[in-house]
Amino acid sequence: MKRLDGKVALITGAARGIGAATAERFVEEGAQVMLTDVLEPELRALADRLGAGFAAWQVVDASQRDQVERSVEAAVEQFGGLDIAVLNAGIFGEMQTVDQYSESLFDRVVEINLKGVWHGLRTAIGPMRRRGGGSIVITSSTQGHSGYYLSSPYTTTKHAVVGIMRNAAVELAVDNIRVNTVHPGLTDTEMMGGLHRTASPDDPSAAMQAFATAPPMRRYGSPREVANMMLFLASDEASYCTGSCYMVDGGLLAYHGGPPPGA
Ligand SMILES: NC(=O)c1ccc[n+]([C@@H]2O[C@H](COP(=O)([O-])OP(=O)(O)OC[C@H]3O[C@@H](n4cnc5c(N)ncnc54)[C@H](O)[C@@H]3O)[C@@H](O)[C@H]2O)c1
Repeated sequence: MKRLDGKVALITGAARGIGAATAERFVEEGAQVMLTDVLEPELRALADRLGAGFAAWQVVDASQRDQVERSVEAAVEQFGGLDIAVLNAGIFGEMQTVDQYSESLFDRVVEINLKGVWHGLRTAIGPMRRRGGGSIVITSSTQGHSGYYLSSPYTTTKHAVVGIMRNAAVELAVDNIRVNTVHPGLTDTEMMGGLHRTASPDDPSAAMQAFATAPPMRRYGSPREVANMMLFLASDEASYCTGSCYMVDGGLLAYHGGPPPGA
């Protein structure tokens, strides 16, 4: 018996990084997955790799409510219901000071990282109620608990999804629908690749090495290490877990960031 046998999952931002690793982990454990993202070739390649009986895909902009609704309907139609939603699509935005940040980009980060989560969450509830319960996992960040430089809308939205998670968890407990957030720290994906290129255009790997000294574990996490937490929360092993935040950050948030002794 696998950990997600008989379960159907919808994953947003599934084409690469943490979302793709989550899809792979879920299928390894017996789930059928509806993959959604804006990157069609990557979606198609991932679905081919996972196999037609286990994976379907749709091009969906997570900020567009009608597209999100269609993808949930498609998951139900294709696989017979919905048990799990991993609301993971996100962008970092540009690195800009709080006073210089462009309003249009601020709005775009909010539309994807916050309203995208809201669209996915509210759309998943109906089908989950019909199944007698479900699990909704939202990807936040260490920046859902603390600030960083030059990324005010990102920090804002990653805090805000904790709020919506808590409210939804309280309301939906009666329906046996659990809602939690996962908070990755530095994770080796294209999102961080973009930051490395911005911080050190001539040598992005130097930026990665420098960033990697921040967490007490002194390394990046892998997408699969985050996916393992998604898997736990999605599975029945987490049957009494709702309304909480789960860190996967190599100890980053436990550390106040001061210099080590002797430095
Ligand atoms: N990588 C990290 O260090 C890190 C740390 C904390 C939190 N996160 C969060 O993890 C989640 C996944 O990011 P990742 O690190 O795997 O980065 P990534 O860039 O590899 O993946 C993000 C995915 O979201 C998709 N996406 C972007 N805008 C979208 C939209 N409008 N509609 C649908 N899909 C869209 C992208 O195409 C991409 O496939 C994000 O919410 C991110 O904020 C990442």
